[in-house]
Amino acid sequence: MALRLGDTAPDFTVQTTAGEIRFHEYLGNSWGILFSHPADYTPVCTTELGKTALLQEEFRKRDVKVLAVSVDPLDKHAGWVNDINETQHCRVDFPIIADPDRVVAGLYDMIHPNASETFTVRSLFVIGPDKKIKLIITYPASTGRNFTEVLRVVDSLQLTAKYSVATPADWKNGEDVIVALSVSTEEARQKFEKGVNVVKPYLRYTPQPDK
Ligand code: BEZ
Repeated sequence: MALRLGDTAPDFTVQTTAGEIRFHEYLGNSWGILFSHPADYTPVCTTELGKTALLQEEFRKRDVKVLAVSVDPLDKHAGWVNDINETQHCRVDFPIIADPDRVVAGLYDMIHPNASETFTVRSLFVIGPDKKIKLIITYPASTGRNFTEVLRVVDSLQLTAKYSVATPADWKNGEDVIVALSVSTEEARQKFEKGVNVVKPYLRYTPQPDK
């Protein structure tokens, strides 16, 4: 059955460009992002891995460990990384999993046979320190993902894991957030010292608590 939000991220042991990795052990207490791309030496994938490499410092700041995966073998990854670094002006320093036997692809349901029998789609999973799946996105091969959006979601996930808040549409780190429905307005006024703006009884804003 396909994975859903809140499920435990399946563990696995694989070969990567950074050596053998046991997934859960590798993540430790950090957050994780596991994302598939259809194939090495393809244009959209080259830009996606390049963009991720350019954002590595942002992922690091948020204590997020990134792992890419494709069904291509390790030697192919190694050559392709040189091309990514050259063309995208970056240094890929996150592990790329070699999954020629489709072990990871199978566990995470990354092959959608009606899209392609052989290649993975563009799946992306954000995994919390509790190893639960917090976000799943799936894009087709023809559309590159927006990794700035992935960072934005990580910011929301990390904030909402810590405080009783939710983030509104198009929210960006530093902007006002929404008081969780589970918190009464009276409680909210005590909890959120910066104030609560009650627009409707169910729509209450407060400044981002950790800013
Ligand atoms: C690409 O990365 O450009 C790509 C990969 C597989 C199928 C189509 C496009």
